[in-house]
Amino acid sequence: MKFLVTAGPTREFIDPVRYLSNRSSGRMGYAVASAALSRGHDVVLVSGPVSISPPDGVAFVDVVSARDMLEAVASRLSECDVLVMCAAVADWRPKAFSGMKLKKRGMSPVLELEPNPDILTEMRPLKNGKIYIGFAAETNDMLAEARGKLERKGLDMIVANDVTKPGAGFEVETNIVTFITADGAEPLPLMSKADVATRIVAWAEKKVLKA
Ligand code: CTP
Repeated sequence: MKFLVTAGPTREFIDPVRYLSNRSSGRMGYAVASAALSRGHDVVLVSGPVSISPPDGVAFVDVVSARDMLEAVASRLSECDVLVMCAAVADWRPKAFSGMKLKKRGMSPVLELEPNPDILTEMRPLKNGKIYIGFAAETNDMLAEARGKLERKGLDMIVANDVTKPGAGFEVETNIVTFITADGAEPLPLMSKADVATRIVAWAEKKVLKA
């Protein structure tokens, strides 16, 4: 099988030295890429800026902004059987980019934003029998929020985690996730991101076999 995995944050530049971003470390997506490789699958890893190295053997695509990521995913989707969107895509970008560093003097204290494309929503019409897996990092009403995303984005599964729990979420090697599908929710215990990744890849393999 061929996996297309996204990972890390995106950066939305305001000027050459400032950007909007988030706390994603890329670890969960890189773990999914490694798990898929170790099962013998082909992997394209589309990654925002992170400080970890891609696993040997992936086809690596380095991106910065949400729009770059959308383009990278859209142009490679047709070759893939499974899309795993681990990336923490910035929902908004500054309306204007200044090619020169903005100066404090004369700068407005209000930053005007415009929405970024939602990559999964854009990819929905191209699904065509492929498997789409998303992630939902939540701080409240995790199950309801994640179920809403599963439906709105037309996913086969969403991997939800409550990032306020110790051992889950950002910048740690472990996670506490719940696999949510149209059939129900399967909460998993605290485990390494590598083990979560192995479970995700196994889930996708099973789903393809059943199709
Ligand atoms: N996602 C995406 N494109 C975006 C934002 C998110 O494809 N512009 C994907 C993420 O990679 C993830 C899933 O959608 O797999 C859910 O991301 P999340 O940020 O939780 O969802 P949002 O729709 O942005 O909802 P929220 O209001 O909670 O930010």
